[in-house]
Amino acid sequence: MRALVTGGAGFIGSHVADGLLEAGYEVVVLDDLSSGRAENVPKGAELVRGDIRDHDLVRRTFRDFRPNVVSHQAAQTSVSVSVREPRRDAEINVIGGLEVLLAAIDVGVDRFVFASTGGAIYGEVPEGTRAGLDFPLAPISPYACSKLAFERYLEAYGITAGLPYTILRYANVYGPRQDPHGEAGVVAIFANRILRGEPLQINARREEGDDGCVRDYVYVGDVVRANLRAARGELERPVVNVATGEATTTKSLANALATAFRREPRFVYAEKRAGDLERSVLEPDLEALGGRPLELGEGLGRTADWFERMTSRRSGT
Ligand SMILES: NC(=O)c1ccc[n+]([C@@H]2O[C@H](COP(=O)([O-])OP(=O)(O)OC[C@H]3O[C@@H](n4cnc5c(N)ncnc54)[C@H](O)[C@@H]3O)[C@@H](O)[C@H]2O)c1
Repeated sequence: MRALVTGGAGFIGSHVADGLLEAGYEVVVLDDLSSGRAENVPKGAELVRGDIRDHDLVRRTFRDFRPNVVSHQAAQTSVSVSVREPRRDAEINVIGGLEVLLAAIDVGVDRFVFASTGGAIYGEVPEGTRAGLDFPLAPISPYACSKLAFERYLEAYGITAGLPYTILRYANVYGPRQDPHGEAGVVAIFANRILRGEPLQINARREEGDDGCVRDYVYVGDVVRANLRAARGELERPVVNVATGEATTTKSLANALATAFRREPRFVYAEKRAGDLERSVLEPDLEALGGRPLELGEGLGRTADWFERMTSRRSGT
């Protein structure tokens, strides 16, 4: 079996590529390395460096490799960037996605798995509730719009082209290899700052100085499990929430991460960021996860260990 992973040099995509290789798939990664890194691509997978918007390259890659499964992880992933550059966001997430989808249909793949976002497309999730699949969709950022638009294309081509697909709506994913220099990925950003002894910035949920937005943080290992089950066609539903259902404020996340590093955190407070939802918590699909998701403290511990190892490797200690 052959799997093509777009975005496989990125944080989640590289873990998915690892998992597919371990499960016995041949893996090709298509990635332009705009935010991903070549060293994230597992040994044993081939890296095709290029842009998913490049029609000829995408067609050639599919025709040469003839994958059975596509795991489409490549994207413009930042809500704030999408607010500043909505056209670029749509070009990558919609037009680029369509290039991948049409090429997949052209070579007749068995299954298409798409990394969507439960963290953005449900909109505000009121206190005391979790967004299940029946929760109204209410995208408020260009990123959420582009992800939802691609879901719709996938559903439409699923019907007209008979393409089996799974849409995985991730909550906020964290774990080893997440980029601490981007604008998304608060766990990685905080990990980096804790190790440098720098203060952690809490962006307001409503007013500067509050505990920050509420999110559902899911460990990358759980996301890989859901991806593998989807790739094998083991998930019954075409749309699945990949989440824990646990509500965590930015400040309690920061405290838990500092505990994992055995450090005392310092805080600075900032205004609410444009496009940020106040509260996003999802109803998890435990079947997709193959059981209970990893508990936050345990996941943060594994993540802290990885960041510490990387820091001491870089400093040669
Ligand atoms: N990290 C999260 O919390 C989260 C939550 C919901 C959904 N997602 C989705 O999961 C997927 C993976 O996200 P991630 O957190 O690993 O981000 P990431 O930035 O680490 O990975 C994205 C990868 O896509 C590549 N890429 C970007 N634009 C490309 C293009 N035009 N052509 C080819 N490759 C391109 C990047 O180089 C990178 O390797 C994305 O689709 C993202 O929207 C992530």
